[in-house]
Amino acid sequence: MAQTRISGKSLQNPFRIHGTVGGEYFTDRKDELAKFRAILEEPAAKMLVYGHRRMGKSSTLELAVSSVNRTGGHALLADLSTASTFADISNRILSGAARSMGKRWGDLISDWVKMLQGSVSLKPDPLTGALLPSFDVSIRTDTLERQRETLTTVLDSLNSLAKKKKMNVGLVLDEFQEITRFGSESAEWHLRGVIQSHQNVSYIFAGSKEHIIRAMLEKGRAFYRMLDEYHFAPIERQHMAAWIDERLASVSLKPQGAGESCVRLAGPRTRDIVQVARKCVDRSENRGAIAYNEVAAAYVEIIDDMDDSIRTWWNTMTGQQQNVLRAVAGSGTGLTTRDTRRRFSLGGSGTPTNAASSLLKDGHLVRTDNGSGYVFDSPFVRGWVITHALPDMGLALLPTHIASETSEYQSPKAK
Ligand SMILES: Nc1ncnc2c1ncn2[C@@H]1O[C@H](COP(=O)(O)OP(=O)(O)OP(=O)(O)O)[C@@H](O)[C@H]1O
Ligand SMILES: [Mg+2]
Repeated sequence: MAQTRISGKSLQNPFRIHGTVGGEYFTDRKDELAKFRAILEEPAAKMLVYGHRRMGKSSTLELAVSSVNRTGGHALLADLSTASTFADISNRILSGAARSMGKRWGDLISDWVKMLQGSVSLKPDPLTGALLPSFDVSIRTDTLERQRETLTTVLDSLNSLAKKKKMNVGLVLDEFQEITRFGSESAEWHLRGVIQSHQNVSYIFAGSKEHIIRAMLEKGRAFYRMLDEYHFAPIERQHMAAWIDERLASVSLKPQGAGESCVRLAGPRTRDIVQVARKCVDRSENRGAIAYNEVAAAYVEIIDDMDDSIRTWWNTMTGQQQNVLRAVAGSGTGLTTRDTRRRFSLGGSGTPTNAASSLLKDGHLVRTDNGSGYVFDSPFVRGWVITHALPDMGLALLPTHIASETSEYQSPKAK
């Protein structure tokens, strides 16, 4: 378990929030794991996994990949979140194979490298020392067309190799929508053309930028009707609350409704919930009981920790966007009602909708489940706006106020 220093003592923190998680730090997702595993083992299957950020997609996909490899199959995950060129995608696929398949990769790589005609070499990973294959750095400056050809060769050769060895390889391309940043629509058509003929590779495309993904799937676009779609939903609320309580109890803390309070304040994203729970442990100093007030204090401390970055972001917003953000934080009645427009100086009914659309596009706001309103992507940004930006207009609310809260999400009584 992770060690946290508290007042000179170290306390085991049973929650992790950095990177992907597995083992005791991971809960639930049995249906998703079974589904992803099945796709990774089914020749030529193609699936799209999409959902909001910080839900646990990458962790679940990584676990599905390792479960396939542990039981004699072959699967790999390539993280494309930072890729800037097609060449980077090729490198991520190669290094993903080495990471995911570990020692069993040995035979495959020599054959694969041979097929890639000597342009690939093995370099040690500075963190683990493991040898990772990558293309010569010069391919990043190749023409776009040449880089696409290289990616085609990587994928085609993986398919031929799998065919020759009479096996299937499951390939996860995580944050695949990033190809639209440097490849435009033609990149999507290119990728479609390459993968649709593969009978020995199955593909899972995963992503969290929903508006980009939705656009990629529209009629007339390359991925229209090509992929089975799987919406990656939140972990069930009661399960999450009970798991948090159980983990707190495992380090001898007494969760007096703490799990439920974490879920209420943090909302549906798994990482946000775990982050509040983790902060509760950091602050607990072995005091034993964690009731609603401690959870609220942990939530406020996270908002304070993020003050610099949120303030910098806030200052990049236009006045109109700032008012829309204030309205989403402070009003539960939607942006276009006359009362909200007047109270938050939003102007005519079209103006707040336009500002909200740009905030939606940039991922700062998301639509409510019923599609009729907006909520903050991050519960911590919501708390910051309540604490720091509502006072500008003379409105004082508790940082724990949740404007969108319905009767289903009632606050537990403060103890
Ligand atoms: N099933 C789970 N059980 C417990 N914690 C989880 C689970 N899934 C995710 N988390 C928490 O969420 C964090 C982020 O997980 P992960 O990176 O898998 O999410 P993601 O949806 O891929 O996020 P991103 O949108 O940033 O790519 C983890 O570090 C962990 O704190
Ligand atoms: Mg991810």
